[in-house]
Amino acid sequence: MILDGKTYSFPTIEGTEHEKAIDIAKLRDQTGYVTLDPGYKNTGATKSAITFLDGEEGILRYRGYPIEQLAEQSSFLEVAYLLIYGSLPTQSELDAFSNRVTKHTLVHEDIRKIFSGFPSSTHPMAILSSITCALTGFYPESINPNQTAEQIDLTIVRLLAKMPTIAAWTYKNSIGHPLSYPRNDLDYCANFLYMMFGYPTEKYEVNPVVVRALNKLLILHADHEQNCSTSTVRLVGSSNASLYGSVSAGINALWGPLHGGANQEVIEMLEAIERDGGDTSKFIAKAKDKEDPFRLMGFGHRVYKNFDPRAKIIKKAADEVLQELGVTNSPLLKIAKELEEAALTDQYFVDRKLYPNVDFYSGIIYKALGIPSEMFTVLFALGRLPGWIAQWKEMRENKEPIGRPRQIYVGEQVRDYVGI
Ligand code: MLT
Repeated sequence: MILDGKTYSFPTIEGTEHEKAIDIAKLRDQTGYVTLDPGYKNTGATKSAITFLDGEEGILRYRGYPIEQLAEQSSFLEVAYLLIYGSLPTQSELDAFSNRVTKHTLVHEDIRKIFSGFPSSTHPMAILSSITCALTGFYPESINPNQTAEQIDLTIVRLLAKMPTIAAWTYKNSIGHPLSYPRNDLDYCANFLYMMFGYPTEKYEVNPVVVRALNKLLILHADHEQNCSTSTVRLVGSSNASLYGSVSAGINALWGPLHGGANQEVIEMLEAIERDGGDTSKFIAKAKDKEDPFRLMGFGHRVYKNFDPRAKIIKKAADEVLQELGVTNSPLLKIAKELEEAALTDQYFVDRKLYPNVDFYSGIIYKALGIPSEMFTVLFALGRLPGWIAQWKEMRENKEPIGRPRQIYVGEQVRDYVGI
């Protein structure tokens, strides 16, 4: 290939999506050029060795491991280790990692004071991003861009450890309840559920089926290559901003209804259909209306032209959990099943490849677990955390240059100011 008069030993761009992606990354490295992106669609584009996604085939792998296998066989902490450190831990590595995380679950007492300053009406995502950034005040070494590898690792472990505590406290704050301290005899997910629903004065029984379902949900959300929040974390981190500041920015990106906020919108849509009398055929017809289409939330995905592999797993998990919890005749579930049936069989949806996506099912499970809809995105953030950390760490280790999205100027050319 010849560029600017120079010849590059660059293979022709052909082969699988994965091979093409690697070729494009090689071209970028050799030439310093970026791919023209007129729609500003990929301004956070980068190379990465963490998550592979093929939207045509509906394939998702973390560090080469199929998501289906990880969701069935691993714990969330094991997957966090895989994403952050690159390989699955041995049992002793996992034990050591888990012990380190457990040691750091408490947050500084002064963080309680910050919590008490938020009105109970504050959206939990606003609190989550604020407190995550505020951690820099309690661990000032985290803002040092020249941290050693050990210091970076401690910064990472602290964040992983404290996030469930902070996340559960955002909920407690919203209902005006006292905050529960972590219980370090419980594992990562069980401890989070305890801090959400257990009370210091009561013996709280953690249901293992619920814990397993939560592990699975968090694993399925743990990374999804360069989506809006992840590329935000990388972009912010590329200026050498701290991990806590970068993840805080990612939390804000995730909050939006087009990204992580979508599962909250799904439940709100199901509730609106229920309030309207529950006739799904009416809403399916409205969704096909050319003039003023009703937007069915939780259907279709920018990259998947096939079933989102995560949605398939969550759909199965939703059936199992709801059965375990005895939630079989919920009106919301009935509405959801009817919409799902339409999406999978109605030619209109089939032609447009509008499969139910990950957000469609996750909200249904969260609802059955008693998690209020305002907390859904917080759960997404808890799941996505290891992915954000891994992407931030990879970007730093690769010494990526500061991100600076290219723009194509489309405004006026020179104009003479002649006064008002
Ligand atoms: C995600 O998991 O981040 C969402 O599916 C959005 C995306 O990948 O763009």
